[in-house]
Amino acid sequence: MARERIERLKRSKNAIILAHNYQRPEIQDIADFVGDSLELARRAVETDAEIIVFCGVDFMAETAAILNPDKKVLIPDLGAICPMAQMLTVEELEEAKEKNPDAEVVLYINTLADCKALADCICTSANAPKVVETMDSDTIIFGPDHNLARYVEKRTSKRIIPIPEYGLCPTHHQIAVEDLWEGKKNHPAAEIVVHPECIPEVQEIADHIASTSGMVRYCKEARGKEFLIGTEVGLLYRLQKETKTQGKKFYPLSESAVCPQMKMHTLTKVEKALEFEKPVVLVQRELAKEAWRAIERMLRIS
Ligand code: 13P
Ligand code: SF4
Repeated sequence: MARERIERLKRSKNAIILAHNYQRPEIQDIADFVGDSLELARRAVETDAEIIVFCGVDFMAETAAILNPDKKVLIPDLGAICPMAQMLTVEELEEAKEKNPDAEVVLYINTLADCKALADCICTSANAPKVVETMDSDTIIFGPDHNLARYVEKRTSKRIIPIPEYGLCPTHHQIAVEDLWEGKKNHPAAEIVVHPECIPEVQEIADHIASTSGMVRYCKEARGKEFLIGTEVGLLYRLQKETKTQGKKFYPLSESAVCPQMKMHTLTKVEKALEFEKPVVLVQRELAKEAWRAIERMLRIS
């Protein structure tokens, strides 16, 4: 069975599997750690393994490679490309910096290394307001997620300049206010828990807004028994698995909130990646050095 072969390969090659909360159930089950972007970056720093198999999207695997220049980081399917990270270009970022010379740049971790290399600091959905508030400048260039930018602006004293003008996650964009009304009609006792990549109108109605792992923590600790979940549907597997004994119920706000790129990794691809030790995630050395500075600053802050 693929699962057993993966376990054997992992042991013989001193490898670990890190998986994002949106991964397929079978990938979550074989992973050594499942978490949100911030937790995965931390785990990548802490591990003694020589090989990291990263089951997430490109910018996450790239971050792990930047933090571990001496380790081999593998991504089972190179097609796992986050469309939001593609929305910000170096040219756009350079132009915004030129136009706003006094502003500092905080970029969402959902960016590629060439943009990260130009940032003062990186943030994730778990720490964005905290990171932005600690910056020296009163004005912050923030990208690429316009919805996260609005979330940050409401929770900090800073003026936020979003770049690009309307960067978004196509998956979270599927979740509409109408889904919340429909969900509440069908499950009136359920609390609404959403991700800050959702549109502001959805965030305003929600009972709680958090990163994916923050959503898991909230639901586990809450007294309530029913939850309407506003993020990629893959999180429901982890929620159900970790609250089995609590008898809690979770409903997706939108069944169509699926991130196809996150679903590209399969057990067969993980096994192949481990066996042949490829595809390797490579980041150009100079870019990696600059991007490391901005990621490391975030890890120190949060
Ligand atoms: P988290 O950091 O909250 O896991 O979010 C990552 C992401 O890509 C959400 O779409
Ligand atoms: Fe990117 Fe959205 Fe998929 Fe997250 S859910 S990886 S932001 S496209």
